[in-house]
Amino acid sequence: MKKLLTSAFVLMLAGGTVAAQDDPVKARQALMAAAAGAAGIAVPMLKGEMDYQPAVAKAAIATFYGVSTSAHAFFPEGSGADTKAAPKIWEDPAGFQAAFDKFQASAEAAFKASGKDGPADLKAFQQAVGPVLQNCGACHENYRLE
Ligand code: HEC
Repeated sequence: MKKLLTSAFVLMLAGGTVAAQDDPVKARQALMAAAAGAAGIAVPMLKGEMDYQPAVAKAAIATFYGVSTSAHAFFPEGSGADTKAAPKIWEDPAGFQAAFDKFQASAEAAFKASGKDGPADLKAFQQAVGPVLQNCGACHENYRLE
């Protein structure tokens, strides 16, 4: 039974990968949506609207880190039509790469700083995740259409 479940899961993953390769726009938008989901739980904790929970904080940071290392691969030349991806992505590929590098560096630092169980308290979470969240708006301002 366990084996069966495992292969079903692997198949599911493989199917997802094929779809993502066929449709880079869908893939990058899904990754961005995952980042937004993580922000949707990180920000209320930062604002004190939700009780701080280290494991939840860790999950949000892990999501940012995963998106920061993976999303850049889904911006092939010519994939901007009918999306919010700005032409500048392909006019200034070095700048776009640098924006992703920065996102990745801060997410990696946050991931490393958050340990196995997540940042110990809200202050540690703020310090770790604050720089990561700055990247969202900074990149969107330059490389995402209104
Ligand atoms: C290095 C650049 C960059 C960074 C950093 C970045 N984004 Fe994005 N994001 C984009 C681009 C470009 C698009 C438009 C993609 C498209 O329309 O195909 C986008 C789209 C989105 C979307 C819309 C997705 C959809 O379904 O159309 C959301 C939500 C989003 N980003 C959230 C975030 C959050 C939250 C962060 C930070 C944790 C973040 N992004 C960091 C470049 C970036």
